[in-house]
This record gives sequence, C-alpha cells and structure tokens, in this order.
Amino acid sequence: MATLSGKNVLVIGGSSGIGYATAAGAIEQGANVTIASRSEEKLRAAQAALQGKVQARALDVADTAAVEAFFGASPVYDHIVVSGAAFKFGTVRDQNIDDAYAAMNVKFWGAYRVARMARVAPGGSFVFVSGFLSRRPKPNMVLVGAINAALETLAQGLALEMAPVRFNVVSPGIIDTPTRAAMPADARKALLENAAKGLPVKRVGLAEDCADQILLMLRNTFMTGSVVYIDGGGLLV
Ligand SMILES: NC(=O)c1ccc[n+]([C@@H]2O[C@H](COP(=O)([O-])OP(=O)(O)OC[C@H]3O[C@@H](n4cnc5c(N)ncnc54)[C@H](OP(=O)(O)O)[C@@H]3O)[C@@H](O)[C@H]2O)c1
Repeated sequence: MATLSGKNVLVIGGSSGIGYATAAGAIEQGANVTIASRSEEKLRAAQAALQGKVQARALDVADTAAVEAFFGASPVYDHIVVSGAAFKFGTVRDQNIDDAYAAMNVKFWGAYRVARMARVAPGGSFVFVSGFLSRRPKPNMVLVGAINAALETLAQGLALEMAPVRFNVVSPGIIDTPTRAAMPADARKALLENAAKGLPVKRVGLAEDCADQILLMLRNTFMTGSVVYIDGGGLLV
C-alpha cells in the first residue's frame, strides 16, 4: 500500500471530529497536513492540540468565491478529505426551506465545489464523508439522508469522470463527535447510550473509527468509487 509520508494532505473540516482525527492520523503517518474550516478560533485550537504540526487555512465550502480563491492560492495537494459540514435538522414540512437549501449547499455542493476547483497530484485522491442515513432514511432527517446519497453517487461519478484521480466515501453511523456539543449534556449522553444499545457492536463510533478508514482509502491505490459504512452494524438492524 502507498504511504502518506511526505504527501500533502488537505482536510476540510479538520478542526473538529472526524476531520480532526483524520488530520492527527495523517500527521502520525508522516504527511504534511493542512486543515481548513470556517472558524479561525477552532482552527487555532486544533493547531495547538496538534502541537503546531499542521497548517491551517480558513474556508467556507458553502461560498463559491471563497473555494475558488482558496484553491487559486493553494499548492497541489496529493489528497483531499472533505469532512466539513454543519446544518440544521427538521421534518420536510416543518423545516424552513432556506435551512434545507443551506444544508444541501454546504454538504453536497460544498464537496462538488471542492472537487471542481481543486487540483490533485498524479496518484491523488479525494474522500468525502457522507452518512449511513443515505441507506437508512429516518423521519426528521429525510433531507440529510438524501444529501448523503447524492454525495455517495457524486463520488462514484467523479471516480469515472476524473479518473485516474480516485474518489471514495466513508459513510459514518452514529459517531460521538463535537457535532452534538450544543445538546444538553444529559440528553446527548442518553441519545448515545440508547444508540449504542441498539447496535450489534454495543457502542457508538469514535472519530478515529472513521479516520482509520479514510486514511486507508488515501493509501489504497486500487480503491476508487467505494462507499464504506463505518456504522457499528447500523445498517443491519
Ligand atoms: N458525528 C456523526 O454522528 C456523523 C454521522 C454521520 C455523518 N456525519 C458527517 O461527518 C462529517 C463530519 O462530522 P463531525 O461529526 O466530525 O462534525 P464536527 O465535529 O462538528 O466537525 C465538522 C467540521 O466541519 C467544519 N465545517 C462546518 N461547516 C463548514 C463549512 N461550511 N466549510 C468548511 N468547514 C465547515 C467545522 O468547522 P467550522 O465550524 O470551523 O467551519 C468542523 O471542523 C459531516 O459531514 C457529518 O454530516 C457525522
């Protein structure tokens, strides 16, 4: 398997959760890592936690001009991971339509913009992070499932259209990351405990569970168009 040593790896969403764990893992494997996300404060905190071993650049993938400017002033990366997204949930009838558009704009169109504008070195690859709701739609999260399904199909189409650049997708189940930090602590704990009970593996995922798979996808040069569900068996129950 190829090595990440000396490779330039960009992790969008690298200031938190799955993206942060991916950045940390890539550093351990000897890559030159850049993390990107919207908040300068979060980027600085992540940089400090990673002992200054990463570069950090602000980027909002929902902003077409910002994505263009970012890649216009970028080195050629070997690998790009798109894990950056944040949006509101709600039922189709009740969710504000502008929030619904915004969710699609950041998670689906964000990845589309990055794939469209970034240039990667020969032998390079992209990994998108979707979510198992693509295969397991849930009430109140219908739109997110549809966005994840679109993202998975986008990657598979790009694996053909942009070949030999490789595109793969990690599709997480329930992962304990800062994404639920705004929930009251008790409610968050109950949600995660309840989710764990219902899974074959009897625990929820950690960011590292997804990061390990992402890093394998970057290194495995025979892997493209693959969607791997890291969900503790969530699709089986
Ligand atoms: N955690 C789960 O249970 C779970 C399950 C299924 C799928 N996923 C998916 O996994 C991905 C990562 O989630 P996570 O749990 O690691 O979340 P997280 O800990 O909240 O991290 C999200 C990251 O994305 C960045 N981000 C948000 N909006 C952005 C934008 N417009 N442009 C650039 N960066 C942006 C955030 O930083 P800033 O705020 O600084 O921008 C942060 O670094 C998401 O796509 C999420 O939908 C997560």
